[in-house]
Amino acid sequence: MYYEPGVSKHGLAYDPFKSCVVPRPIGWISTTSAQGVDNLAPFSQFQNIGFDPPIVMFSANQTTRGTRKDSVVNAEATGAFVWNMATYDLREAVNISSEELSADVDEFECAGLSKIGSRLIRPPRVAQSPVHFECAYLQTVRLPGNGPMGTVDVVFGRVLAIHIDDAVLRDGKLDIARIKPLARLGYYDYTCVETVFSIAPPGTNEALKAGLEGAADKVGQALGA
Ligand SMILES: Cc1cc2nc3c(=O)[nH]c(=O)nc-3n(C[C@H](O)[C@H](O)[C@H](O)COP(=O)(O)O)c2cc1C
Repeated sequence: MYYEPGVSKHGLAYDPFKSCVVPRPIGWISTTSAQGVDNLAPFSQFQNIGFDPPIVMFSANQTTRGTRKDSVVNAEATGAFVWNMATYDLREAVNISSEELSADVDEFECAGLSKIGSRLIRPPRVAQSPVHFECAYLQTVRLPGNGPMGTVDVVFGRVLAIHIDDAVLRDGKLDIARIKPLARLGYYDYTCVETVFSIAPPGTNEALKAGLEGAADKVGQALGA
């Protein structure tokens, strides 16, 4: 089949677009409003986009009322957000925290989650999550879209601090198969990462290999910097 979004119909019972880019990691983003209310919401339009320094982004559509989402407003207002790793065990809490609630409601409480303070920034972390990034807000790129929800605010943040629960580390690596990170598919479907395999990078370019690993110090060594 072939279709042009916004021009021709896909003709399927369900829109296939979100099921084509899978699995998507979940940016479970905690922020604090200018008024001091903590906020938590999942964004599957999330990714790391650089490792030296580490930078992440999440992309928020507008609310059903056509307004900017609380996570965006708060990150911009206070200059900070936390990424919490969503796991299979936390899937129900992730779902509950996605409800569109007013800015004075704290989704940590709705989802029955505990908070732990961050070290460098104001927004708290999800205590039950095994990995957290404390992020400094960098900028928002607003891309116009259709209808009340189509416009997206893409929020970029620099990762200032990384917390990893020692219990999920094994042989110097995150034990992904044990953590079972949650990820979005299309429709109302999810998956979690349970299978891990390795493929050695081709060639002898050590800097390139270090970049694949995301190891800034090894890149420097390989390039003699
Ligand atoms: C697993 C999951 C992933 C989601 N991903 C996104 C996303 O990438 N972008 C988005 O705008 N909304 C996404 N949503 C919906 C938001 O979580 C929801 O609109 C939430 O109310 C936003 O909260 P906020 O206004 O407090 O920021 C997702 C919901 C779920 C359950």
